[in-house]
Amino acid sequence: MEFKVLAIGDVVGNPGMERVRRKLRQLKRKTEADFVIVNGENASVVGITPDQAEDILDAGADVITLGNHSFGKREIVDYLEDTSRVLRPANLAPQAPGRGWDVYETKAGDVAVVDLIGRCNMDYTPDNPFLMAEKLLGQVTAKFILVEIHAEATSEKLAMGYLLDGRVSAVWGTHTHVPTADCQVLPQGTGFVTDLGMTGPMQSVLGIRPELSIAKFRGELTSRYEPADGPVQLCGAVFTVDTRTR
Ligand code: FE2
Repeated sequence: MEFKVLAIGDVVGNPGMERVRRKLRQLKRKTEADFVIVNGENASVVGITPDQAEDILDAGADVITLGNHSFGKREIVDYLEDTSRVLRPANLAPQAPGRGWDVYETKAGDVAVVDLIGRCNMDYTPDNPFLMAEKLLGQVTAKFILVEIHAEATSEKLAMGYLLDGRVSAVWGTHTHVPTADCQVLPQGTGFVTDLGMTGPMQSVLGIRPELSIAKFRGELTSRYEPADGPVQLCGAVFTVDTRTR
């Protein structure tokens, strides 16, 4: 039996949120997706509020994933403890609030979603995501397993894909906000893309007003990052998976 997963890249600020509110349900219908996962850690640019999480779920997402900005808005902490539908990376320190993976019932069978975070050029506090992935695979028995690796380095994301090839249904990357043109089925049958890209303003640097980013790179004192104006894109990928994947 085929199972279609729609994975949406990092939603950035109000422009990205507005696009999700207006378009996600329509896109879910159009792609005939059975299950929708949205990375929401930039809904407030840095972090996500409970209201924004509710809005993304109301718009059609089944699960929201987070990353390095999981706790950027502290009011999300209590919410994370109470919900199974918003995941922070599983390899954060054990005392981190919330959960990093869970199993969801669907008409096609149980679906496990695992959120992981990379370490190359990122925070050094998370545990090794490769060892965590192997450990979790020993515990998860769901029919379908979907893994997001929120990471900067393309090598780290590709290596995760190959580590899990044939053992999970799909692996995709998030965090860089730039989609990669390498959608593929890995040799042992796992669907993979290095980065989904973002849902946010197109004429921007990762969703942010370019002048703010330029100022930072020029070494100037910078003000708070704000989303850019102009047209908004929604990036993501559809994975059609079946039980032969693994
Ligand atoms: Fe990120």
